[in-house]
Amino acid sequence: MRKGRDVSSTFNIAIDGPAGAGKSTIAKKVARQLSFVYVDTGAMYRAMALYLTRKGLRRPDETNEAEKEAFRKKAAELCRDADITIVYRDGEQVVLLSGENANPYLRTEEVSSMASVSSAVPEVRVKLVELQQRLAAEQNVVMDGRDIGTVVLPNAQVKVYLTASVEVRAKRRYIENVQAVRSGAVKSEEDLDLEKIKADIAERDHRDMTRAVSPLKQAEDAVLVDSSDLGIDQVAEEILNLAADRLGRPRVVTASTAGFCFGVQNAVDTVYKEIEKGGDGPINTFGPIIHNENVVEELRQKGVGILNSVEEAKAQKDGTIIIRSHGVTKKTWEELSGGSAQVVDTTCTFVKKIHEIVHKASEEGKQIVIIGNHGHAETEGTVGWSSTPATVIETEEEARSYRADPQRIVCIVAQTTFNAEKFEKFVDLIAKNGYNIETNETICNATSERQAEARRIARQADVMIVIGGRGSSNTAKLYEICKAECADTYFIQTVDDLDLKLSGGEKIIGITAGASTPKNIIEEVQSNVRRTDF
Ligand code: F3S
Repeated sequence: MRKGRDVSSTFNIAIDGPAGAGKSTIAKKVARQLSFVYVDTGAMYRAMALYLTRKGLRRPDETNEAEKEAFRKKAAELCRDADITIVYRDGEQVVLLSGENANPYLRTEEVSSMASVSSAVPEVRVKLVELQQRLAAEQNVVMDGRDIGTVVLPNAQVKVYLTASVEVRAKRRYIENVQAVRSGAVKSEEDLDLEKIKADIAERDHRDMTRAVSPLKQAEDAVLVDSSDLGIDQVAEEILNLAADRLGRPRVVTASTAGFCFGVQNAVDTVYKEIEKGGDGPINTFGPIIHNENVVEELRQKGVGILNSVEEAKAQKDGTIIIRSHGVTKKTWEELSGGSAQVVDTTCTFVKKIHEIVHKASEEGKQIVIIGNHGHAETEGTVGWSSTPATVIETEEEARSYRADPQRIVCIVAQTTFNAEKFEKFVDLIAKNGYNIETNETICNATSERQAEARRIARQADVMIVIGGRGSSNTAKLYEICKAECADTYFIQTVDDLDLKLSGGEKIIGITAGASTPKNIIEEVQSNVRRTDF
């Protein structure tokens, strides 16, 4: 083992911490963002077990001390010549054992069983640490484990001790187990007992921290990151920014609200689920599923078409028609549902709620006012749920000149993405006429939260990047907000449009994205901004 080896020509990130803190997920994400190699130390231990098995070593009888000792000696002798390394091919991690791709053999029962005993042999650990150090000396790596910052890479430029409370880790494990059961995996009763999981984690922590060989402990120069109240993206960003600080590069701050909102995510997921189901007949969306050319094109390549009118929908006799998150008018909904193709409705629940309000109020004889944009698909859909003619108000002038029957209640709703301040102002203007008003503030928080966060980030950023489709009005609005706070704001659709001109003095590059921007496009941009110069 080469303790203290100089690895300064490469950049290494060491992530240690207790089991269940999310180390490997975070490490992989950080590595992907920087185009570093993620070193899966567990896979290397398995490759060593495979090597020993191929050399004829067999697992000893646990009750036979002589056999165990003979095994230890033989493993210690054989492991010296093992040649194990990790490379990436087409984005996939490949563990090479003497140059051969060992991946297909690493998950077998035999290898698992051997790994559990061979990894406890001190000489095996020493050998693997040497191999891991060699990897880190040859390329930029992210490595996670329990003794990476203390033993394997004591000179790593960034060391993180990633932890989370026992309660949070137990809850994460419990949720994983429940999800596994739902998808058909068999789990024991104990795996679904939160208190038992908690006790096991606490006991494992104690064992790892007190074991004789390479105990789990925070390196003196490691930064403590507690992920109890943070999401995966936030933790990864914190680590990536520690790396940026070490390299004297700008920090990248990505809005947590960037990208798909709940309703759009659901709509897109539904389309992919329908593709997966692969039933008979075509799959079409009623209008483009979202305002993003890339997503629409990707779906087109998977055979998902777009229906542009009710007539086209009526002509579809089988397969599936998917209604997008904006929703449709009541008449359209009935016409589509009355056809022979299966209809899958992904109208966002918040939009559906507005349809219900409008429908009920109009049936009760109330006059309907929708504060929103003329011609917007959602507004048009909502108008169509009123049994009586509804009025759409988009401008201050329209609000000022609106006149209603003073004897009947005026029921006011908002388009989910309408500006909250304008909505209040317009309601006040209508109220000035003394009408009996019933106001429903139906603006969706996803939009206002995204805009507020974008403004906050743009205020402190030297450069701001807004990602979204050209036809997306919510992205255009985000750009407007960011540009007002940060003169150097870019509006891009994908990473291909990004022609970043940096002066070198930038400290923060901010990123946000419209509601129709998929996560992979955001990640490509983040990665591109971060990777330069490595
Ligand atoms: Fe629904 Fe709000 Fe998105 S209304 S579609 S979650 S912006």
